[in-house]
Amino acid sequence: MSVSVNLSNFYPFYAQEKMDALAGELAGAHDALLEGTRAGNDFLGWVKLPVDYDKDEFERILAAAAKIKEDSDVLVVIGIGGSYLGARAGIEFCVSPNFNMIDRKGYPQVFFLGNHISGETVNEVISLIGDRDFSINVISKSGTTTEPAIAFRVMKDLLIKKYGDKANDRIYATTDRARGALKSQATACGYESFIVPDNVGGRFSVLSAVGLLPLAAAGVDIKAMMQGAADAMEAITADKSMSNPAWAYAAARSVAYREGKAVEILGCYEPRFHTVSEWWKQLYGESEGKDLKGLMPASLDLTTDLHSMGQFVQDGTRIMIETIMTIEKPTSTVVIEKAEDDGDGLNYLAGATMDYVNKQAQAGTALAHVDGGVPNIKLSIPDSSAYSFGQMVYFFEFAVGLSGYLLDINPFNQPGVEAYKKNMFALLGKPGYEELRAELMKKM
Ligand code: PA5
Repeated sequence: MSVSVNLSNFYPFYAQEKMDALAGELAGAHDALLEGTRAGNDFLGWVKLPVDYDKDEFERILAAAAKIKEDSDVLVVIGIGGSYLGARAGIEFCVSPNFNMIDRKGYPQVFFLGNHISGETVNEVISLIGDRDFSINVISKSGTTTEPAIAFRVMKDLLIKKYGDKANDRIYATTDRARGALKSQATACGYESFIVPDNVGGRFSVLSAVGLLPLAAAGVDIKAMMQGAADAMEAITADKSMSNPAWAYAAARSVAYREGKAVEILGCYEPRFHTVSEWWKQLYGESEGKDLKGLMPASLDLTTDLHSMGQFVQDGTRIMIETIMTIEKPTSTVVIEKAEDDGDGLNYLAGATMDYVNKQAQAGTALAHVDGGVPNIKLSIPDSSAYSFGQMVYFFEFAVGLSGYLLDINPFNQPGVEAYKKNMFALLGKPGYEELRAELMKKM
């Protein structure tokens, strides 16, 4: 298992015995995830997904990605939340945060839409596509989410204007097996379709067609990613002890929560983690933030945010723990050369690599934050390969399942997500929301 957890900067605040004392609860949660005996057990398809997936569909995904590479300069991926973040996280992590700017080696550019309601951004993407060939992968499990539905309507019209009756050959729909408006459209128009499994929730769906098609189309090795996830699954599900990294991480954050911490900051020292943090925030926030419980997940890009939020972490209200993520071996580094005049005073670093400086910054910051009263967890991942991405995804998923059960909540539902939708529909005048609209108008 290549994700490792180091708690040496956590123990000054919470002795190892406190984590060890949770072993019984963790064993119960571990069994419940494998046996499906607790709340949310109809959404545990992700537990075995790295090995138990539709192999024929996987081949169709590879074929669709090859076709998109062949006939499209751009793939527009339309989806929001769990139908968006995992794919973007994987592309940024395994390819680059600048994935559309570097040499694409024949792979299409990928633009993400339907993850906001910004007309100007839709127009910008349309102008960036210009006259070039494009395809669409529209992803929505429910098939009825407003943001992707609007973006899909706009982009589909554009596709039809450009390709006429051949447009439908360029639309790939990832949705429910049987229900929803997108499923009906896909059936009526004959879009090539992929399934979001019934028992896999949005935020746990990156290893399903939801993530696989955009990732493969962007050039990520999805076979290696699934192998990484499968190996992580084997290691994590077999180890019922505190040496299991998912147990160690879940135990540490549970102890901190029970002892009064309110926020967990994920701080990442390479820009390629940026959207991994966004994915992580959804995974942990939507899984645990309910019944008035849970650590609020926040994120920092480091060292960037040390020059903005660093002050608060060092010195502000003591409500947080910090989980630091680092890549042991970046894909490349830069050697700092000696300068004749040493005008910038950096000659003391001559010969050092930027990675060395980054690692010293990590160590120094962790010690400073520990001195400032912030318990630190360190997560290391060997590299930014697709294999390691698969391992990291499975690690975080299993750990949040354990941690959610330790909180005694259902980690696999998201009842709170509906509240804003009802108000928005009422204000927009959607049929069926007349009474709520009248109520809201009185308040406004
Ligand atoms: O995790 C979730 O359930 C949500 O974030 C959904 O993924 C998001 O709301 C998109 O839903 P859908 O895929 O149904 O369009």
